[in-house]
Amino acid sequence: MTVSNSSVKSSAYLEAVKYRRTVYGVNDDVSVSDDRIIEIVNEVIQTLPSSWNMQSTRILVTLGKEHKRFWDAVIAAAKPFFLEKQGGEGWKRNENRFKSFQAAYGTISVFEDHSAIEKLHERFSHFPITVFEGFAEHSNAMHQITLWTALELEGLGASLQHSHFVPGVEDSIKSTFSIPSTWSIKAQIIFGGLSGEMPTVPGKESVSTTVKVYK
Ligand SMILES: Cc1cc2nc3c(=O)[nH]c(=O)nc-3n(C[C@H](O)[C@H](O)[C@H](O)COP(=O)(O)O)c2cc1C
Repeated sequence: MTVSNSSVKSSAYLEAVKYRRTVYGVNDDVSVSDDRIIEIVNEVIQTLPSSWNMQSTRILVTLGKEHKRFWDAVIAAAKPFFLEKQGGEGWKRNENRFKSFQAAYGTISVFEDHSAIEKLHERFSHFPITVFEGFAEHSNAMHQITLWTALELEGLGASLQHSHFVPGVEDSIKSTFSIPSTWSIKAQIIFGGLSGEMPTVPGKESVSTTVKVYK
């Protein structure tokens, strides 16, 4: 079916897509209400697509003091790893990075519930489960980019992080926030008040290299 009555035109959508940037060094002084942030999260998760509508994405929203507690949990779990692998200086560098995230206002953690993937796989068990795990990742990433963009259109700055790769960090986040065992964390979107201008677009390969068109 063709939808002809959307009030949003593609140029407005692409303008929004082009506005999003990786913004570091954000602060915890935000003018957007918690209710609006939660509304954005709810709208995104109620709208975004997934393979056969399996809906494997899950979201943890931590705001204000809960955001600070989130990064306390990351820092406590990451410290022994960095001290062992990189020594005191390596830890200092990483601690400073984590503290800069903690200085923000909120973290939206995007998870995937493996039980939703298993449920879909039961319907199509003639294919390997890795096929559906791949689709779940794609859908998860769609949620990430949509949330990231929407937050920045509210006037906030945000970045996409993967601090859970440090051994022990995912378990620490899960136990701190009573996350079900079937959920695994995929990314953290850290956001807060902008302290400067939005960064400029980084250099991109020419479309003659990255796009092929036949017409
Ligand atoms: C899949 C993916 C993973 C990323 N992981 C991280 C990350 O762990 N830490 C980080 O600081 N930036 C991360 N980034 C941000 C990229 O470095 C950034 O998007 C890229 O340099 C382009 O800049 P832009 O976001 O301003 O367009 C990630 C981006 C993508 C798409």
